[in-house]
Amino acid sequence: MKVLIIGSGGREHALVSKVAENTSVKKVYCAPGNGGSQRENKCENINITKIDELLSFALENRIDITIVGSEELLVQGIVDKFNENGLKILGPSQKAARLEGSKSYSKEFMKKYAIKTAAYEVFENENKALEYLKKCEYPIVIKADGLAAGKGVVICNDLIAAKNIINDFMILDIFKGSGKKIIIEEFLEGVEASILSITDGKVILPFISSKDHKQIFDGDMGPNTGGMGVIAPNPYCSKEVLDEFEKHILRPTLVGIQQEAMDYKGIIFFGIMITSKGVYLLEYNVRFGDPETQAVLPLMKSDFVELVTCAIEGDLQNFELQWNKGYSCCVIAASKGYPGSYDTGIEINENNKLEGKLFVAGAKEEDGVLKTSGGRVLGITGIGETLDKARDIAYADMKKVQFDGMYYRSDIGK
Ligand code: AMP
Ligand code: GLY
Repeated sequence: MKVLIIGSGGREHALVSKVAENTSVKKVYCAPGNGGSQRENKCENINITKIDELLSFALENRIDITIVGSEELLVQGIVDKFNENGLKILGPSQKAARLEGSKSYSKEFMKKYAIKTAAYEVFENENKALEYLKKCEYPIVIKADGLAAGKGVVICNDLIAAKNIINDFMILDIFKGSGKKIIIEEFLEGVEASILSITDGKVILPFISSKDHKQIFDGDMGPNTGGMGVIAPNPYCSKEVLDEFEKHILRPTLVGIQQEAMDYKGIIFFGIMITSKGVYLLEYNVRFGDPETQAVLPLMKSDFVELVTCAIEGDLQNFELQWNKGYSCCVIAASKGYPGSYDTGIEINENNKLEGKLFVAGAKEEDGVLKTSGGRVLGITGIGETLDKARDIAYADMKKVQFDGMYYRSDIGK
């Protein structure tokens, strides 16, 4: 088998490494990949990123399965294009990808199928939004409707902050169209959990739960990032929480997917908030999480390629998804300045032997040396019988890797 993984982050490195475990897989291509995917067994990076180029590559090289990492290409309809050409690809159709691509669409979907979510209003006119904001209780959450590279959600503590966001999103148009329409949403207080799942359109199989750490600083302080670390399973996801999630979120979502005749054979990732008033759905993502994937996939006992094949073929009903016992802890190291501006091209010293697994995110190999190329540079996942052991491995390994300006949180999973 030949497998194509599309993307260039830590998530894609983790996907490459998991796919390569399957003995029927002879070759893994990662487009464009990074300095880590390139070093994995059986893997070759190919420097293409556009749908048409990827399609030609997959046809010419007779790729058996394609897995898409990030949301942009899914929202642009890569799955429909590949399917029209008889290629197998894991991911939602363009229609289903709107569950992530448009927050107003996904909120309407949640309302229609009685999925428990925060109360909200949609605005396309800034004056109406400002009028509404004068009557709101604070904090309040403002969300850009379209894709905004993870920067489109802001929690506003007062009217002044909210007015500034309306100005940025709707008038200055900082997201180039994606924030012209906004959602103003009730603020929910609680603990978040990420539940990655896979669907073939007939069933949704949830993976083990995980917990991202979105803010840049310890104690969940400072601005949001793409994610600074993940533990799995999420200690807050008790049986009661998971039962409630299944009843009020997962099952009605499946009903909605079927009734709306979405062609959905892919990953569906539920971002939930566990509150004193129950479990709420914050958002859908139609792809793997980053860095959730780096913590969750290493615990998967079942064969990942078989799982993906079953999803694409509509045959998940009989798949028995199994997990290894224990915990994982993935700590992310970022460039100095992230999530603001940062320098790149900084050499990474990673010559020491690690006990955990290093996943490269924003780094490239030049003449055999890894150099930083992004904000989130790398992650290390430790696995242990207990969460403490997993965390100790990840943090001990972090001390063995260095680059100038390297920053990581010291409280992942604490
Ligand atoms: P989203 O992209 O909708 O998941 O939002 C990004 C992040 O903003 C979430 O992971 C939460 O940390 C936060 N967030 C989103 N919606 C709410 C809400 N209604 N109440 C509190 N926090 C929220
Ligand atoms: N870590 C959050 C995400 O992938 O959206």
